[in-house]
Amino acid sequence: MEHREDLKSILPFLPAVLRSCSLFWPSQVVETLGTLSRGPEHSRVDSGEVLFLAISNLRDSIGLSSELLTDSVAEGYALFFDELMSRVESRKWFSEALPSLAALLLRLPSLLEIHYQNADNLIGGVKTGLRVLGPQEAGIVFLSQELIGALLTCSFFCLFPITNRGAEDLPTVNFSQLFASIYSNYSENQEHKIKCLIHYFERLSSCMPMGCVSFERKVLSSKHVPLSVSYPNTDFWSKSVVRLCHFEVSHSGLIEDQLCESLEVDFANKYIGGGALHRGCVQEEIRFMINPELIAGMLFLPSMADNEAIEIFGAERFSNYTGYASSFRFVGDYVDEKPVDFMGRRKTRIVAIDALCNPRMRQYKPECLLRETNKAFCGFYDQSKQQLYQDAFRVEAFCEDKPSQEIEGLSGRAGSDQIGKPLSSAEGLNDGESIAVLINKSHIEQRIQAKEPQNDIGIVTGNWGCGAFGGDPELKTIIQWLAASQAFRPFILYCTFGEKTLQKIEQVTRWIVLHEWTVGDLWNMLSEYSSQRLKGKIDTGFFTWLLP
Ligand SMILES: *[C@@H]1O[C@H](CO)[C@@H](O)[C@H](O)[C@H]1NC(C)=O
Ligand SMILES: *[C@@H]1O[C@H](CO)[C@@H](O)[C@H](O)[C@H]1NC(C)=O
Ligand SMILES: *[C@@H]1O[C@H](CO)[C@@H](O)[C@H](O)[C@H]1NC(C)=O
Ligand SMILES: *[C@@H]1O[C@H](CO)[C@@H](O)[C@H](O)[C@H]1NC(C)=O
Repeated sequence: MEHREDLKSILPFLPAVLRSCSLFWPSQVVETLGTLSRGPEHSRVDSGEVLFLAISNLRDSIGLSSELLTDSVAEGYALFFDELMSRVESRKWFSEALPSLAALLLRLPSLLEIHYQNADNLIGGVKTGLRVLGPQEAGIVFLSQELIGALLTCSFFCLFPITNRGAEDLPTVNFSQLFASIYSNYSENQEHKIKCLIHYFERLSSCMPMGCVSFERKVLSSKHVPLSVSYPNTDFWSKSVVRLCHFEVSHSGLIEDQLCESLEVDFANKYIGGGALHRGCVQEEIRFMINPELIAGMLFLPSMADNEAIEIFGAERFSNYTGYASSFRFVGDYVDEKPVDFMGRRKTRIVAIDALCNPRMRQYKPECLLRETNKAFCGFYDQSKQQLYQDAFRVEAFCEDKPSQEIEGLSGRAGSDQIGKPLSSAEGLNDGESIAVLINKSHIEQRIQAKEPQNDIGIVTGNWGCGAFGGDPELKTIIQWLAASQAFRPFILYCTFGEKTLQKIEQVTRWIVLHEWTVGDLWNMLSEYSSQRLKGKIDTGFFTWLLP
């Protein structure tokens, strides 16, 4: 079995047991799930209270201590299914949804077997099997929506062990705390988060989606590694002659409602999902409730470092909602009509990037500007343009190695429309040859068009790291614009959510575009502003400071 290594990394975190190369449920689990799957007449599981007993039972059978299931967890399941849910809905849940979830869970071992059998042939030679995608390890995992459904059913039944998760920087993934929280400290938004998840399970049981979802860990390498994108330094940003991409503003739109295919930003916690399975209910947590397949990533993606981001492609949306934070409410079914790509992934790309938490004045320090810009760049880069990034990166390194007159013709002097670039193997020359040629931006853009049919994928974002994390929205707007431009994205669509400090956003971005600034120009302005701000010379926002 070639996938043994993959399986070995994730096995301690799965509830199934491995014996003689095959996965299976212990017989007691098979028995309990079999009975559950035949409906409440057989199982007598027709209330939250009894359901909880079944859960304890299952946990016992796989050797998980039931002591960890506190009274509030029991009370939480009972409260939700026996009091908060209407009689009619509850009857439907126990007679239809729960039995089919039990049947799905019964099939988890065989779904995993099938998964690993196909994992290495999915994209020529690239590992895609379920495994812990550990720190500083770029990689991708492809999961069928059905397998995700089975994994999330494990979460619902609280079957994931805690083995070493803390040491591996992996978050909680069982739903126990979610249910406990409505009992120990009821709030309506928390009830509605659970409603979204229950709705997702009901949808699964009425019609199993057959697509798949990929989870990718993106890493900016600190060293120059072939085929990887490097972690830029401040000098790189300061000298970049890349043109700023198109900037569009939406004052009332929501990131998840955009119909064009784009990369949608998840204002993430470094532990992906943040407080989704606890009390959190802001941008990231809401996204995880309406597209619950995202939660599966919490099983195997340890927390992100500064040079890491996570991109999830294909998660389907199941629920509609209104409100935000304490006013968050589930308002019914959502039929996701996004088209599907050739691998069966819905064309919804979500990128999780975690901003600095509570940075206050620190956010104006050069190292913090760099951290945030690189974090966004890590999220926004597109592996298929990797050659272009390397070219852009190498020309910087090349310029630094040479005395200035030797590189005169290479950078600034030729005007903002010129990009210096060493010839690369793509052009038929050796990678190592330090011959530099000038190519202009329309040339680069032509190359992108030719090689990259998905070049129209821009960034849809908003006030990243500005809510609970307390960042400066004006700063974050510019940082994300820089990152999107340097990643050669065609546009950035910025949803302001009515943020007051961004009233001048259109005026400012128009002004900047009018002056034909490059990424480097804008970076330098932002740095200048930040240094004055740090020294206490000014206390106005960047927009006011910049405009004449
Ligand atoms: C699973 O549920 C138990 C019981 O609530 C909890 O103690 C444990 O931390 C959970 N494990 C994971 C991985 O979430
Ligand atoms: C109860 O929930 C509210 C709102 O979610 C929160 O502000 C409060 O701190 C919580 N109290 C406790 C004791 O957890
Ligand atoms: C979602 O809910 C809102 C508010 O109830 C409603 O206006 C909208 O039409 C709904 N959207 C879908 C796709 O059901
Ligand atoms: C820029 O590149 C385009 C396409 O490759 C070419 O037609 C044009 O002449 C170039 N312009 C300059 C100033 O080199």
